[in-house]
Amino acid sequence: MEQGTIIEIQGLTKTFRGALEPAVKGISLSIGRNEIFGLLGPNGAGKTTTISILCGLFPATSGKINIDGMDMKGDLSNIKQIVGVVPQDIALYPTLTARENLDFYGHMYGLSGKLLKDKIDMWLENFGLTEAAKRKVNTYSGGMKRRVNLIAAILHDPKILFLDEPTVGVDVQSRNVIIDYLKKLNDNGTTIIYTSHHMDEAEHFCTKVAIIDNGTIIEQGTPAELISRYDGCHNLESVFLQLTKRRLRD
Ligand SMILES: Nc1ncnc2c1ncn2[C@@H]1O[C@H](COP(=O)(O)OP(=O)(O)O)[C@@H](O)[C@H]1O
Ligand SMILES: [Mg+2]
Repeated sequence: MEQGTIIEIQGLTKTFRGALEPAVKGISLSIGRNEIFGLLGPNGAGKTTTISILCGLFPATSGKINIDGMDMKGDLSNIKQIVGVVPQDIALYPTLTARENLDFYGHMYGLSGKLLKDKIDMWLENFGLTEAAKRKVNTYSGGMKRRVNLIAAILHDPKILFLDEPTVGVDVQSRNVIIDYLKKLNDNGTTIIYTSHHMDEAEHFCTKVAIIDNGTIIEQGTPAELISRYDGCHNLESVFLQLTKRRLRD
């Protein structure tokens, strides 16, 4: 593993039970320390499958994954302590308040007492949720739930944060709050890996991107590299359309 690399993936494959073909077909990727890495692709491309394996939610069918010098197969419990995960579907208890939900997650990561309370207070304040935190989560907007979900994933100060489509179905205000905060976390040393199909957002947010389609990485580099690589493309959206359309024809 090269120095400066925090995640190394080799030949990652996943075939779900009963599936006719693999959802992920031999992906290899190196992700640099302190990168904001975007895994971009259309629906069904394999983004959630890839990210779920990387954060240890379920095992790969084959392939090697090294995270911060640890092998996924042997060191899963150590890896879990340094990663935070924001899943695609909201993972909160609807009948508990935001504070109660965060308290639960904090304890799951071994935090408690004043340390946990201070952290929860700080994050609620930072995300503009102090008042709302007394209400049950089922009274929240989608954007508010996403913000609580994000706090739940960062209470234990993870080195690496995985987010699966964190801005889907979110109003513009919440989206900006989320993106701004992710940039701040990244400034403070957190490596971010996120999936999206918003090319405009990814172009401005990511330091590196990989485009995945049909379980295969079809292109990768900085957004600027990708844009300059394709004639007539002036933004990531047009690169993405050109690549995914071409695959539809092939
Ligand atoms: N639990 C599962 N069982 C069977 N097939 C699945 C499962 N999860 C995802 N798939 C299939 O794997 C492929 C990739 O899905 P997914 O990783 O969710 O894509 P994306 O997140 O890019 O939309 C899709 O064809 C999907 O139907
Ligand atoms: Mg998905």
